[in-house]
Amino acid sequence: MVRTRARAAIQQAHLRSDAWWAQRYVSMAALGAFVVYATWAAVIGTHYYVDPYISPIYAPCIAARCAHVSFPIIGTFWRWSPALLIILFPLGFRTTCYFYRRVVYRGLAMPSACAVREPWPKDKGESKAPFILMNVHRYFFYVAFVLALLHWTDFVLAFHFKAGWGIGVGTVLMGLDTVLLSLYVLSCHAGRHALGGHVDKFSQAPIRYRLWKLSTRFNVNHGPIAWASLTTVVLVDVYIRLLSYGVFHDPHFILLGR
Ligand code: FES
Repeated sequence: MVRTRARAAIQQAHLRSDAWWAQRYVSMAALGAFVVYATWAAVIGTHYYVDPYISPIYAPCIAARCAHVSFPIIGTFWRWSPALLIILFPLGFRTTCYFYRRVVYRGLAMPSACAVREPWPKDKGESKAPFILMNVHRYFFYVAFVLALLHWTDFVLAFHFKAGWGIGVGTVLMGLDTVLLSLYVLSCHAGRHALGGHVDKFSQAPIRYRLWKLSTRFNVNHGPIAWASLTTVVLVDVYIRLLSYGVFHDPHFILLGR
């Protein structure tokens, strides 16, 4: 018979004396600030495009009335912000991300450190509704993969100024954002599984093995990549907004005139 030892009964909420709660509050504040800002930027529907830059919150722009149409899929009847047509996908991908889930769970429900008591004794985790819905992340991955590819189109177009092909500060920022978004998608846990993690015999699937190895290389840094990617989304949007408001001009030079 296997004998199990009961957990030590302690009266205190925890026995830690370090600032174990700091990460919880800083992470939750950063994530909350992003959600508030992204929602505001997506809803207002203005100042998201300055030639040749488009905010990542609005890309790809699929409404015919968009200031810079990527694909005119939705007709002129759509009078609201074009970001509302696509925001569900990147937001759904991010909010169900394993890394952000960890941040939120540790911030709100689960112990955020070792030796800290569980706040909800009957917590069922993701085995029951509503948190079981988080498993939809694996499907959001496929949409995010396509969106990341489309971001490269907008990045190439960010070299195309009215006066010709060139490069500006906005081009560099959009490039940084595109690279980080691609790494974020590539390092996704669900993506790693889809790319090759589900394969039983790697010897019979050499391409999938290489993709899985590539994803694994970035997967170990998925958390820092997630934060960096979140930051550049806001940075590029703010930069374009300030350009649009005329607060400053975009330093750029033309390499190939028309
Ligand atoms: S686990 Fe973070 S994006 Fe998939």
